[in-house]
Amino acid sequence: MRAWCVVVAKDRGEEVRRVLRDGGHLLPHVSVLREADRLFFPTKARIDIGFPTEEREFAAAFAPVRSYKDVVEVPDRLRRLLPTAFDVIGDIAVLRIPDELDAHVGAIGEALLRWNPRLRVAARDRGVAGERRVRRIEVIAGEPRTTTVHVEFGLRYHVDVAKAYFSPRLGTERIRVASQIREGETVADPFAGVGPYAILIARRRKPSRVVASDANPDAVALLRTNVAVNRADRVEVREGDGHETLRSVAPVGRVILDLPHAAMDFLPDAIDALGPVGTVHLYGILSPLEREHRVMEIRESVARADRRILDLVVHNVRAYSPAQHHVAFDLTVDRG
Ligand SMILES: C[S@@+](CC[C@H](N)C(=O)[O-])C[C@H]1O[C@@H](n2cnc3c(N)ncnc32)[C@H](O)[C@@H]1O
Repeated sequence: MRAWCVVVAKDRGEEVRRVLRDGGHLLPHVSVLREADRLFFPTKARIDIGFPTEEREFAAAFAPVRSYKDVVEVPDRLRRLLPTAFDVIGDIAVLRIPDELDAHVGAIGEALLRWNPRLRVAARDRGVAGERRVRRIEVIAGEPRTTTVHVEFGLRYHVDVAKAYFSPRLGTERIRVASQIREGETVADPFAGVGPYAILIARRRKPSRVVASDANPDAVALLRTNVAVNRADRVEVREGDGHETLRSVAPVGRVILDLPHAAMDFLPDAIDALGPVGTVHLYGILSPLEREHRVMEIRESVARADRRILDLVVHNVRAYSPAQHHVAFDLTVDRG
């Protein structure tokens, strides 16, 4: 390929290479030419840094691409801040990008899409906010949309990453809970989101009924679509507050309290909704100490409801932050 280059004596090569690299001028994946005691650094355009320039023919260099980081162009001093992990929801890459990289979000998004051609949208996640756990999303590259279809365990979920909560990281937890459902059970899923628990349970197990509801009308609209496209006929969709749903579904065999930041507020209603024997799956985002404290709070809540604990299994779903885990409490109670 023909490109402009900066011509420099070998003994100043390293110094000039750094200047070109830090300024983002070097043409990536193209080999530097050497002739006698001169080096020819290929550049993206004609660059004047006080050295001669000329046009030359260059060979493409072999550049194994292991990560989008291999193809993204950001100043070297910021490279360590590039996100390593990101969520893939359908064909959308959703990633957290530190503020220091504000000026480079477009380049990062473009690099991601070039690196994985199955991704069509790159979206910056500015954090989950509010009771509805909706992400603040900014599309940074690709098609201007936030909707997609995510496939999990062979089921299709219509998702809008800007309007309703969905995390692809919890699939293993969903299948763990679903595997416990007994034939003929009634399940209440009052924080159903777009339906990944309710629909999985309805399609892969044999419940008699799954009541799935959410307070976010956008989530409920997607939930209705997902129930229809997956033909999950046993799912009964409702819209409304979790308290209302729990107070109107009794008796059920199982309740899924998937609202980690506030699940304890709903535990008394969940226990009251259970039949003579039933299970509540309750989630929390907790440090190890808080996890111990949460066990005590659960015991107290069961005692206040005049029930008896038959089983209480606690397990870490996944790390949430350096000090916290997403924790699941599987609580089975009877009337004592
Ligand atoms: C952590 S998300 C879980 C969604 C879903 N279970 C999943 O696995 O994707 C919590 C959901 O609870 C809903 N929510 C929050 N507060 C609520 C309330 N008081 N009553 C009903 N739903 C609520 C949010 O809209 C959100 O969809």
